[in-house]
Amino acid sequence: MYNFDEVIDRRNTNSLNTDGFRSYIFHADETMTFPYKDEEFIRMWVADMEFATPEVIIDAMRERLDQRIFGYTRVFSNDYYEAVSSWCKRRYDWDFKKEELVTSNGIIPALYELVDYICKPDEKVLFSTPSYAYFKYAADYNNREYVCSDLADNNGRYTMDFDDFEKKAADEKTTLFIFCNPHNPTGRVWTEEELKRLAAIIEKYGLWVISDEIHCDLTRQNQKHIPLGKIMPDYKKLITCMAPSKTFNLAGMMISNIMIRDEALREIWFSRHYNFDNPLSVAASQAAYERGEPWLKELCAYLDKNFEFTKAYLADHLPKAVFSISEATYLAWVNLKEYFNKDEELPMFFAYEAGVLLEGGNMFVQNSDRYIRLNLACPRAVLEEGLRRICKAVNEKSNNR
Ligand SMILES: Cc1ncc(COP(=O)(O)O)c(C=O)c1O
Repeated sequence: MYNFDEVIDRRNTNSLNTDGFRSYIFHADETMTFPYKDEEFIRMWVADMEFATPEVIIDAMRERLDQRIFGYTRVFSNDYYEAVSSWCKRRYDWDFKKEELVTSNGIIPALYELVDYICKPDEKVLFSTPSYAYFKYAADYNNREYVCSDLADNNGRYTMDFDDFEKKAADEKTTLFIFCNPHNPTGRVWTEEELKRLAAIIEKYGLWVISDEIHCDLTRQNQKHIPLGKIMPDYKKLITCMAPSKTFNLAGMMISNIMIRDEALREIWFSRHYNFDNPLSVAASQAAYERGEPWLKELCAYLDKNFEFTKAYLADHLPKAVFSISEATYLAWVNLKEYFNKDEELPMFFAYEAGVLLEGGNMFVQNSDRYIRLNLACPRAVLEEGLRRICKAVNEKSNNR
């Protein structure tokens, strides 16, 4: 039994979560003040967890430390491939070839590179909105235009608008679709039927597709993730991104796995990518896939309970909030349209009025106004206090109207 109720102090570790919120959420510096001290905030924003990384991973890093030399490192061993591929085979019944696997210091840097390698200067990147903002930033960074296809919100459960998606895919200048599978921030685990429909459109227009599957290990226990690569087994213009970073709280170790099917694209990657890894990260990632599964199982059970608690708490205290339990991720996506006017700055409201740091509003490109995203990967006691403060602040605001 792992203790997910333990509260761990993260201050003074250069953690973005505790020390970087002013710049990230508010584009401000230390001169920005709040009615709360920094240590008094309940932090439910950036997508990392308040839980300790499993001991089996820390042990592997210790073992690597004990070897005492940390020279230039790249994944050469077959063991690393074996660890990642057997994880995918066991959990998702999905295979990829050894030569397809490359590593990157994160999925964000891989997206930044791949947009450049794939899209000519006048070509466009397509993604579904609301969206993880770095999909847009990857286009912006490379001076590529982007096109959004809004998802439809059906009382908290999101679906793709396939007609709109196809219209946008049909533009011959749209050459790359960045797909979030499962989807952040809406929490959708796409069904086989949805994936097949999507795959048919991708194939029809010959799009490149990057399937960002970073959240795939964090499904609710009644859900099943399907890699897009399994639906499109022979499609060469597909890149799959996975990582131990969300799953095992290793984002700071900066290692992710990118499976590139197309040989010519792989050649570009190898000729232009800064191709070294951190030796501690390689040890951590391999150990995670080899030995982290029992911990992950308990984590998912704990997260399921946090979602159930959140659902019940919101129903009791904010009955007009629309929320359905995310099928994957540890992120709750809550519609507060009944409580706020357009253009209200939600992260600012909750920081000032509730002492809660969260993401929301326009932080997800578009089609996200008056929603908040809550990170539920925290001890239950922290979650309870966060929700208590959120509901109290919203109810006080509504009563004062
Ligand atoms: C969909 C998605 N992709 C990528 C990332 C970040 O990836 P990395 O830390 O590997 O750069 C996140 C983090 O929240 C995410 O939600």
